[in-house]
Amino acid sequence: MPTEPLNAARLPGYIARARRALWPGLTLAVLRALAIAPCPLILKHIIDHEVPTSDARGVLLWSSLFAGLMGVHYLGSILGARQLAQALARLMVELRSRIFFRLQFLSFSYLDRQKTDRLVSKYTSDTQAIEALLSAILNQLLPAVLYSLTILTVLAVINWRLATAFLVTLPVWAFAKWLFFARLQRSDQAAQIAEAKLTGTANEFISALRLVRSLGGEKHLERVLFDRSGDFARSRADHSWMSAGFASFSYVGAQTIAALIVGGGALLAIRGHMTPGTLVAFLAALPMILAPVQSAIGLRAPWFAAQESYKKVKELIDSPYVEDWHGARREQRLSGDLVFDRVGFSYPGTDHPAIRNFSFTIRPGETVALVGPPGAGKTTLTNLLLGLYAPTTGQIVIDGVPQREWDMRWIRRQLAVVTPESIMLSGTIEENIRFARSEATDAEVRTAARLAQADDFIQRLPHGYLTLVGEHGVALTAEQRQYLAIARAALRDAPILILDEATSALDSESAGPVQLALERLAAGRTVITLAHRLSAVKKASRIVLLDGGNIIDEGDYAALTARHEKRRESANPDVSLG
Ligand SMILES: Nc1ncnc2c1ncn2[C@@H]1O[C@H](COP(=O)(O)OP(=O)(O)OP(=O)(O)O)[C@@H](O)[C@H]1O
Ligand SMILES: [Mg+2]
Repeated sequence: MPTEPLNAARLPGYIARARRALWPGLTLAVLRALAIAPCPLILKHIIDHEVPTSDARGVLLWSSLFAGLMGVHYLGSILGARQLAQALARLMVELRSRIFFRLQFLSFSYLDRQKTDRLVSKYTSDTQAIEALLSAILNQLLPAVLYSLTILTVLAVINWRLATAFLVTLPVWAFAKWLFFARLQRSDQAAQIAEAKLTGTANEFISALRLVRSLGGEKHLERVLFDRSGDFARSRADHSWMSAGFASFSYVGAQTIAALIVGGGALLAIRGHMTPGTLVAFLAALPMILAPVQSAIGLRAPWFAAQESYKKVKELIDSPYVEDWHGARREQRLSGDLVFDRVGFSYPGTDHPAIRNFSFTIRPGETVALVGPPGAGKTTLTNLLLGLYAPTTGQIVIDGVPQREWDMRWIRRQLAVVTPESIMLSGTIEENIRFARSEATDAEVRTAARLAQADDFIQRLPHGYLTLVGEHGVALTAEQRQYLAIARAALRDAPILILDEATSALDSESAGPVQLALERLAAGRTVITLAHRLSAVKKASRIVLLDGGNIIDEGDYAALTARHEKRRESANPDVSLG
């Protein structure tokens, strides 16, 4: 397995690259902040110099300059926002690719323990939560902080006393607002919990109405539900009250700061420390300076959500549970010579072995059958051959070379597997067959379908090879899906074919023709057939009887049926060998 790209795909490398991608957008953000920095100065100049001298031309000139700077700022905002949005979009695509890339290397012993929907949510909703936070930081918080800083600097140059007043009141204001907002969020959470409890209880009681009434327990449930409903109503009222309070607090707070500035500024003006123009400049700048406080508070919820999501994504991307195949050997084509050498295997997290000391040799071109009851270990043996898990003891030797020396991703392409529940991806029939070998030509796809005897039914469909199979292939019958799975295996043209109960999902009428297609496909390949019953594998040159991960007998059909006649008579019908 290539370890280099894997390491490069880890999160720190990704973040370093992300920084570089964001640079152009960030530079534009700084430029547009600088563009508005002189605006308070211009306002001050108009009021202190142009108004007293009644210079209309001057007013016009400076106002035009003000408008010009706003134009530059606007342009910077539009271009910068576009830059950042595009960079962010690329980063998210890359993050999702990394997640999917990683999934291809994670060991099945890890994946078996994960729920599919949780893996999917790492790919979709968790990346979205991270994106929402980054977008809020880049598009709201960062510009707000930059404007606030540049304007504060300019104000400090005009009048450091009043600017200091800003610097002192701002953190106090931010802290108070943050505390209030935290309280608001707690009340929101409480309301949500109360709602969940109410819905849960109502759901349970209402769906069990028949039982409740037949037992005469309505009174008790009525009381429980009444209490829950009351809790919910109270928590909602509390939250509405808090929201209203927060809105008023924000307004009154901002106005109070404005009043402080006007009052303080007026006192300074009376003492001759500043001009009315300076006071106007400060008042005009006030919303800009308060903006980062509001943006930072708005980030609270996305911040916590994104942190959780980041942890989940990181857990997957930086997971140490990767397949430990490091071989690199490849050949033109395998001949299909397989040796299981005292192989033992237990699934991770289980204490009883699924395979015990299994030794067996398969020659190129041979058709071998593994027969045994459910849970005997048949599929496990093929999982080991595919390298989905590594043997706990012993080894598998492929074409005379131990498994660990091979590039296992290449080895997997030398194997074609047909299982009873053949998996289809939504798309056309053609795409589904081509999935076995993406570079195959149309003619090759047709030939494979013909070999699998799938061509007939495909031609009869209204859109032929372009028919959509629906999600998971729901638009097809089980038999049609099985033909397509065989066509896939045929297209892959692998030297080793694994037929895992390939006809067991079909009724006896369709099993026959599918069996024929399989036999055509098997010609000239090493074939491993897995079956529950001996009768399904009469033609195999050698048959291994498997039970509890052990070989219990081996021979051809005639020998095994003779030896196991007695056993068959007494066995329970499910595990019948005949
Ligand atoms: N992913 C897994 N994690 C843990 N245990 C597993 C896993 N897959 C299979 N097993 C266990 O390993 C043993 C062998 O299972 P396996 O699927 O190989 O049997 P099988 O012969 O293919 O059975 P079937 O005829 O039902 O397909 C069983 O005891 C099974 O419960
Ligand atoms: Mg199986």
